[in-house]
Amino acid sequence: MAPTAKQPIYILNGPNLNMLGTREPEIYGHETLADLEAAARTRAASHGLELVFRQSNHEGELVAWIQEARTEAVALILNAGAYTHTSVAILDALKSLSIPSIELHLSNIHRRESFRSHSYVSFGVTGIIAGFGPRGYDLAVDAAAGMIG
Ligand code: DQA
Repeated sequence: MAPTAKQPIYILNGPNLNMLGTREPEIYGHETLADLEAAARTRAASHGLELVFRQSNHEGELVAWIQEARTEAVALILNAGAYTHTSVAILDALKSLSIPSIELHLSNIHRRESFRSHSYVSFGVTGIIAGFGPRGYDLAVDAAAGMIG
């Protein structure tokens, strides 16, 4: 089924992002994932869009949700956490999408350890937002809204 404007944007978050607020705050900030979700919902609503916002520490669950987004979402925003740098399975799932997709990171992965500079996710998405901290979630919602509008 082709996506319609009534369908939501999916924001999927990978491993350890449930620990935001207490996890390495000097890198990821003090806001919790619930804080980011609330801000992203407000932002989506300002565009007249619904949001599905989820987090999982499990690669297969993220793959299943990306597959679900094929038919249920108008756009996908994915912060795959550490799976960004390891997961061919997530890349393959992204490649099956025909909706716009955005790779999102709180930190600038290219300014950190060299292993974070390689992203499998980048091969499968429309665009990338990284290094803007929590504001990146708002930027990603704006970008997704622009691509589906
Ligand atoms: C992250 C960057 C990844 O390298 C890291 O493994 C994360 C978070 C980010 O949002 O900056 O878990 O995706």
